[in-house]
Amino acid sequence: MTSASQASPDVPHAIQLRPATVDDVPRLAQLEREAFPDPWDAAAFRSLLRGAASRVTVAEADGLVVGYTVLVRAADEGELANIAVAAERRGCGLGRLLLDDALALARAEAVSAVYLEVRESNAAARHLYETAGFEAIGRRRRYYRAPDEDAVLMRWRPPVAVSDTAAGGVRS
Ligand SMILES: CC(C)(COP(=O)(O)OP(=O)(O)OC[C@H]1O[C@@H](n2cnc3c(N)ncnc32)[C@H](O)[C@@H]1OP(=O)(O)O)[C@@H](O)C(=O)NCCC(=O)NCCS
Repeated sequence: MTSASQASPDVPHAIQLRPATVDDVPRLAQLEREAFPDPWDAAAFRSLLRGAASRVTVAEADGLVVGYTVLVRAADEGELANIAVAAERRGCGLGRLLLDDALALARAEAVSAVYLEVRESNAAARHLYETAGFEAIGRRRRYYRAPDEDAVLMRWRPPVAVSDTAAGGVRS
């Protein structure tokens, strides 16, 4: 479990990150309905929790789940399939805390890249991703419904450690 106070001075100290369990599913589905016009249902979360390739992480404050991420692994790549924070908790650094944790998890699993799609109009999420090192690499036309909207496809790659390049010699 991660103590939020280690990660960001802006996040309330009582926030804890931990892997989700099946007991969290009703609350995850509730937050999902509040966050998205096309929400995943409880069955989708239960299925993710059964899957060996998915990591569902929740942020908990005083015993209440207030945010979550879903990271899905496919071969050596990852997809940030979902991230949401309870509406009344947004703007306090919790989204960044959750995203940093998901990217740390991806690095620990040695992924070569993490991909995601985001609604073009979702300024808060796009800002969060861009400042975490994601870059826009494409667009999926009318990817979203209710309302119809393009998705921006983004990619994050783990920073290359100096020790990884040292043996490669001079490149230019
Ligand atoms: C996206 C989301 C998870 C961000 O969570 P959060 O806890 O509010 O994020 P943070 O407080 O960590 O803020 C992250 C950054 O976004 C910025 N931000 C917040 N709202 C913003 C807005 N409306 N426009 C632009 N930037 C915004 C913050 O200023 C912060 O940037 P900074 O550190 O450079 O100041 C949250 O808004 C959310 O749950 N939205 C609904 C679900 C969703 O859209 N998920 C993404 C699906 S792709």
